[in-house]
Amino acid sequence: MKYEFPVTLNTNPKEKPSPVGLPFGKYFTDHMFVMDYNQEEGWHNGRIVPYAPIQLDPAAIVLHYGQEMFEGLKAYKTPEGRVQLFRPHMNAKRTNNTNDRLCIPQIDEELYVDAIKALVEVDQDWIPEGEGTALYIRPFIFGDEPYLGVRQSMTYKFMIILSPVGPYFVNGLQPTKMYVEDVYVRAVKGGTGEAKCGGNYAAALKAQEIAHEKGYEQILWLDGIEQKYIEEIGAANAFFVIGDEVVTSELNGSILPGITRNSIIALCKEKGYKVSERKISIDELVDAYHAGQLKEMFASGTAAIVSPVGQLEYKGEKMVINNFEIGPVAKEMYDTIYGIQTGKIEDFMNWTVPVADEDEE
Ligand code: PLP
Ligand code: COI
Repeated sequence: MKYEFPVTLNTNPKEKPSPVGLPFGKYFTDHMFVMDYNQEEGWHNGRIVPYAPIQLDPAAIVLHYGQEMFEGLKAYKTPEGRVQLFRPHMNAKRTNNTNDRLCIPQIDEELYVDAIKALVEVDQDWIPEGEGTALYIRPFIFGDEPYLGVRQSMTYKFMIILSPVGPYFVNGLQPTKMYVEDVYVRAVKGGTGEAKCGGNYAAALKAQEIAHEKGYEQILWLDGIEQKYIEEIGAANAFFVIGDEVVTSELNGSILPGITRNSIIALCKEKGYKVSERKISIDELVDAYHAGQLKEMFASGTAAIVSPVGQLEYKGEKMVINNFEIGPVAKEMYDTIYGIQTGKIEDFMNWTVPVADEDEE
């Protein structure tokens, strides 16, 4: 590793949760990474310390104007005991794209990945083993300068926390139900939809609450202008199998460019599927459903992995997809991606990155 960080070990380690029925995002490991930014020193003082609450000035910019970004990736343990990450440099790049949009200073991508590796190495005993589980890694950055004028912060914290998790969608590979939102919108081109910032999720809570009340796990968002074209899911990208075409919405400036999405497109090409990134209107989807051509729908994301969707509701019509069963494309994508991530199948795409340098292993 190019960068190394001092470690203060936790003298009071916690009990680890059972890997059986592990929920998403409820348990946290014994350590966290913290790094500071100011104008004189840039990013400095990266360190690994015991996991603990942090102190924040009540006037900190993040608390008032939401200058914050986050990322999500996972660490896995292979059957041979090797600890590995999945495409972490893509998270580092996306962080800098988000930072650019939110006027947060850029961060050296090697430093970012080395900080993740160093923290995961310290807490590697927390990586759960069990179908669908992993150690979720949550890097985040926020402006912590105490100041009430509206401008970017002059100081920041970059932190990383870790959480042993099961699948984000509670049913795992059991199909979920999604609600097509036609009142609220998530993002518009020119907004922050393609950035990974907390504000996008706060703005989506109202619609999510309504969908939950109706018995739906997640929302399928439509575009913010005409509410005509499919964008993405609340915490994942959306894929459809229409006839023999695997299709996902094109990146148009308001959709999060998912790393799992990118991986599925590459895998589909590798495996010879006809795969398209294009505009898909909700009307096209409903027509395909009525014509018996909507074969599958699934969500893709770090937290969601690949999650089949068994029912979609739009304007009161409930469309049942593939008899509420996981379809062959979703199954193949789940098996291949999760198989590569966990080292159960060969990494023929060269996507995994070991946490320890090869010569240290
Ligand atoms: N879209 C949204 C809104 C998300 O929150 C996520 C999750 O990170 C994704 C898409 C999928 O992105 P990725 O595959 O990089 O996790
Ligand atoms: C992820 O998949 O990493 C996400 O960020 C989803 C999250 C909002 C729970």
